[in-house]
Amino acid sequence: MDLASVAPLVGGEGWDLLQSLPLYDASTELALQTRLRDAGYAPELVSAALTQSRLRARARAKFGSFAAGMLFTPDGLEQATRLEVAARHAARFLRAEIRLVHDLGCGIGADAMAFAGLDLGVRAVDVDEVTSVVAAMNLRHWPEAQVAHGRAQDVTLPCGEATRHAGLWLDPARRTRGAADISGRSRRVFSLDQISPSWDEVQRYASAVPATGAKLSPAFPHHRVPGGSAGAEANWVSWQGEVLECAIWWGPLVGTVGRTALVMRAGSAAVTVTEADAAGAPPPLSDAARIGTHLYEADRAVIRAGLTGALAHTVGGGELDVGVGYVSSDQLTDVPWAHRYAVVESMPWNAKAVRAWLRERGLGRLTIKKRGVALDPELVRTQLKVTGDEAATLVLTRVAGRPHVLVVRLD
Ligand SMILES: C[S@@+](CC[C@H](N)C(=O)[O-])C[C@H]1O[C@@H](n2cnc3c(N)ncnc32)[C@H](O)[C@@H]1O
Repeated sequence: MDLASVAPLVGGEGWDLLQSLPLYDASTELALQTRLRDAGYAPELVSAALTQSRLRARARAKFGSFAAGMLFTPDGLEQATRLEVAARHAARFLRAEIRLVHDLGCGIGADAMAFAGLDLGVRAVDVDEVTSVVAAMNLRHWPEAQVAHGRAQDVTLPCGEATRHAGLWLDPARRTRGAADISGRSRRVFSLDQISPSWDEVQRYASAVPATGAKLSPAFPHHRVPGGSAGAEANWVSWQGEVLECAIWWGPLVGTVGRTALVMRAGSAAVTVTEADAAGAPPPLSDAARIGTHLYEADRAVIRAGLTGALAHTVGGGELDVGVGYVSSDQLTDVPWAHRYAVVESMPWNAKAVRAWLRERGLGRLTIKKRGVALDPELVRTQLKVTGDEAATLVLTRVAGRPHVLVVRLD
């Protein structure tokens, strides 16, 4: 997105036009465009306003009604932290008595808005000019917050006594600048060296300013979690069952040293699971005969954090195999950060035997879940060729090193 398609919307006639638009509806966009042009608005302004209107409609999933007062870029929206999670980031800085946060790569300003919303001072920069203009507009309600177009590397960092109440926030870009594909989107990057600022740079910032936090991909490898004297926390965060990030926290921003998982669901209190919760967990099952009457599936943040042991501990059971995230037990326990199923049947994976079992019972409408085995659920569905009317949920997984299938129903 270029500056020409955003600048006219920052205040004045352009902003008024954008604010006057009805909720975006693709089926009426063309008619609306014609009406606005007929009313005398410049075609470029109409096109810019409609693009924002479209982005706002998408942004409602992350920002709810706040989206109606914000500007976006497509990449900025995709990479922005959702409201509830950004509020959690901000709360860490507040608890650590930080008063000023330098947001080094602020994007469209979602985290920065959460910082400012808790009355923290904000100094934000973004290397992309359009994005910095958008962020400045999104932070307009907090006149103390400053947004500049610039590189993180050129920011003068707090030092000495100033670091007691100043912190750094980094949410490195996971998309390349400039290199757009045919759909106009920039390319995704996956390695920690390719994110910008890079992981090495992030760690250098953290050694210069104790109160540093960084948002990284949920695929962040466990062996890269800063340990030893760094005493950092790697916090995997899920929202409604989807793992959104692994945030690394240093210094006074650490809640619990080591790997932790934060499970967030609308309408429920957030839960944090720590390594201490998983310590001394029963070992994974040594044999499929030990599968109990109930199957528990840990929240994905817990699995990513490598803390499924905490679930085994809580329900007095064992993980089906190392890292699969499924725990079986005879115990009936309510765990807010896990799904619970009743085990209807359990058998080694064998397409012929499973098909016969399903056919005998008229089961054909299959939900197939899988974790920990190299089986393709859609291929399995074709292989099973069952046509019965009754529904069943199959869990394809691994037990004691072997592919296994469980037929389950939600408890
Ligand atoms: C993932 S986004 C930040 C999203 C932001 N936390 C939010 O919630 O809206 C990362 C941003 O970092 C910016 N960026 C990348 N490298 C940078 C650098 N060296 N200096 C400043 N900004 C940079 C990108 O332009 C991008 O807008």
